[in-house]
Amino acid sequence: MSIISIVGLQWGDEGKGKIVDFLSEKSDVVVRFQGGHNAGHTIVANDITYKLNLLPSNILRQNKISVIGNGVVIDPFHLIEEIKKIEENGLTVTPERLIIAENATLILPIHKIIDEINESLRSKDKIGTTKRGIGPAYSDKVSRRAIRVCDLSDENIIEQKVTEILNFYAPLLNASNQESLSKTKIVSSLKEIAPQILAYAKPVWKMLNEYNKSKKTIMFEGAQGVMLDIDHGTYPFVTSSNTITSQSFAGSGLGCTPITHNIGVVKAYTTRVGEGPFPTELSNNTGAILKEKGHEFGTVTGRDRRCGWIDLVQLNQMIQICGINSIALTKLDVLSEFESINLCTKYLIGDEEYDYLPASQTLQQQIVPSYISVPGWKSDISGIKEYSQLPENAKSLIEKISNLLETNIDIISTSPRREDTIILRDFF
Ligand code: IMP
Repeated sequence: MSIISIVGLQWGDEGKGKIVDFLSEKSDVVVRFQGGHNAGHTIVANDITYKLNLLPSNILRQNKISVIGNGVVIDPFHLIEEIKKIEENGLTVTPERLIIAENATLILPIHKIIDEINESLRSKDKIGTTKRGIGPAYSDKVSRRAIRVCDLSDENIIEQKVTEILNFYAPLLNASNQESLSKTKIVSSLKEIAPQILAYAKPVWKMLNEYNKSKKTIMFEGAQGVMLDIDHGTYPFVTSSNTITSQSFAGSGLGCTPITHNIGVVKAYTTRVGEGPFPTELSNNTGAILKEKGHEFGTVTGRDRRCGWIDLVQLNQMIQICGINSIALTKLDVLSEFESINLCTKYLIGDEEYDYLPASQTLQQQIVPSYISVPGWKSDISGIKEYSQLPENAKSLIEKISNLLETNIDIISTSPRREDTIILRDFF
């Protein structure tokens, strides 16, 4: 029995999917605890490619339990579509193995429209959201007008809350020349989908604490990356949830329990989709090579990812904030191109040196990264499965990163294929 947590330690897209998939094989339960269908990951199982946004990644393993916690914002229409796609391929998603928190918040179609309007109203600081309504749904949650999963069982509550939400947004819709939305349509679509969602609704907090008592292995699957955390990330260029490890408990209702393997997934370089500070971004040929070799295009929006060198300042900060005790290093093979590889070890802002990312967005914009350079290996390492087979310079780079971050690197991924993974620790 153990509690495992996996979060991406950069701005998302660290290659979590493969690591989660590998560790979920031996976990009984996988829990999503924040975010929504802004997350995207692709899993190939039995030669079929599945695109998952909202469902926990063990949904394709028929004997496992998948949990969507209260910290997630759920678009009910998207969720049912995702389930349908899986079932079209012969798998079944029953209420015995998909459990949704009855106190999770719903994303409504209006939230997508508000997401677009909010972005268009920003003058300079556009965030570049996924336009899936994530921010507005969380706003309604903290403003205490959201519709929650449990509300779907009460037609009067649905009607009352839809009225309140439409009234609240009416001035914004009017000012943006948007047609007002039909209350009747929204209410009837929610009533129609209600029984399908309610079939999976349970007190997740209770079940997770029972699973823990009965010594099941529970794995928390983070979405996005911790640099997109609403409090600790590059605010305001962040997502609308807490993405850090400690949110696992608040976003699921499992009582605070020591995490056996607290894993941070780190790409061997850095990428970011959307706007916002990115100290080590490379707008030159090196960045273009990283993008091309790393196939850095967003899975949800198809946008190009911005690319740059690994940033140990940002990583060190997030390791502390998340209490990470194990690193999974991904996409090491993408660095095989380079004569030398840069690692950012401190920031310079004016005459001042920083060993952390200052919170101010004004200062974040002015960061000049300071690098150390290590020699590359200039040979193809993709597909290597044994540490001993890596070139000496690749091993030195891994050891350097591990030493500078004072954290063990326990998993190294050398290609997108599941089997091309070096495992240096016995997790089970
Ligand atoms: P939102 O989560 O749609 O509100 O978008 C806020 C910011 O988070 C934007 O910069 C998005 O590109 C980014 N973002 C959201 N989800 C992901 C993800 O799963 N991977 C990477 N970036 C993401």
